Amino acid sequence: MMSQQPPPGNAVACPQGLPQNSALLISGTAAAPTVIDKKRFRRDTLTSHLGRDPQQHAGLVNTPVYRGSTVLFDDVATYEGRHPDDYKVMRYGIYGTPTTFALEEAVAALEGGDKAVALPSGLAAITAALAAFTKAGDHILMVDTTYGPTRSFCKRRLTPYGVEVEYYDPLIGAGIEKLIRPNTTLVYCEAPGSLTFEMQDIPAIAAAAHAHNIPVLSDNTWGTPYFFRAFEHGVDVSIHAGTKYIGGHSDVLLGLIVTNEKYWLPVRRAVADYGFSVSPDDCYLALRGLRTIGVRMRHQQESALKVARWLQQRPEVLRVLYPALESDPGHAIWKRDFSGAASLFGVVLKPLAWEAVGAMIDSYELFGIGSSWGGYESLAIRTDPKNMRTATGWNPGGPLVRLHVGLEDSDDLIADLERGFTTLKAST
Ligand SMILES: Cc1ncc(COP(=O)(O)O)c(C=O)c1O
Repeated sequence: MMSQQPPPGNAVACPQGLPQNSALLISGTAAAPTVIDKKRFRRDTLTSHLGRDPQQHAGLVNTPVYRGSTVLFDDVATYEGRHPDDYKVMRYGIYGTPTTFALEEAVAALEGGDKAVALPSGLAAITAALAAFTKAGDHILMVDTTYGPTRSFCKRRLTPYGVEVEYYDPLIGAGIEKLIRPNTTLVYCEAPGSLTFEMQDIPAIAAAAHAHNIPVLSDNTWGTPYFFRAFEHGVDVSIHAGTKYIGGHSDVLLGLIVTNEKYWLPVRRAVADYGFSVSPDDCYLALRGLRTIGVRMRHQQESALKVARWLQQRPEVLRVLYPALESDPGHAIWKRDFSGAASLFGVVLKPLAWEAVGAMIDSYELFGIGSSWGGYESLAIRTDPKNMRTATGWNPGGPLVRLHVGLEDSDDLIADLERGFTTLKAST
């Protein structure tokens, strides 16, 4: 029979609710699913054990790729008895298969949220989450340092549909309260900010928003569920580009929205209404990436800090924008709220021609040129976020380069950057 029961309070269960006839596909034992206690174990134990149950999958360590659209039911009554809001049981492929559920359960538990839903990209997760809480006549508060395509979605989709989008200073903290209106339906954060890496005081913002019963949505792609347990700091809806560190290998596009109990249904219904669904292969890859997120991120953080400190000493560098550095204005907040840092940061160079920056990046052997980040490989781009601000200014005093530090040897990466500075010198 289809089980409509959620796993017991503190336990992480295997994907539940397989119809009886699916026993043909899985190992025959009818034993209760393996559960692990989310509160008893630390995060590295969780990343190893969440979202899998060998007993349910012929003894296989990993939850396999379950492909499928149609799900067969035992009888008409069971088919017609499906609850439209029960998204965590097998009913139709678009709502997920055991592979999807395994990933969703693992990410939600790691971050300390209630439930998660997977989407085909990080941007899909952003747009579905925003759509879940907006309608014509609403007002929303959006951080000025948000990811560029989030701003485009607001401008090209939300605004024409009658939603007023007000951008706020990322450093606003408790001052957000003054901007809240009777028709404000959400506060959106991203910490640190895209490209410019300002930290946000999310607990202070959340306290103000919650005093008005307004949900806080946050893009936690940089923090990841591993380094920033968003729900312990007041976030209600946490958004991830799983494309980055969760996937971790630059071979998957994926988004995840994790929510607390209160805001699960509006989010999950919005995702269903848009028909977003993720390939089980991509969920499998993301779950595989999640198993090593701790070792990768700790190692990449260590290398990123070494590279960032080296850059700080360079005569060509004006400032390194990285909250993990003691000198960064956001360091105190980062240290208070995060347990680690992503290996993505900005480098402001002393004033020089834009073309010279391009020549410097072109001369790198190891830092690739391309979009995205969070994979095992290092990346570099030049970027000018000046025109992406409306509530605050951006005048850093020189051109900005964004670096992503991968898993290569950090001394080799430093040598590559040094080569770039030599090219820079030659071209100026
Ligand atoms: C902070 C942030 N959020 C969301 C996204 C979107 O993720 P995706 O590329 O999977 O759509 C990105 C992508 O670069 C990002 O940097």
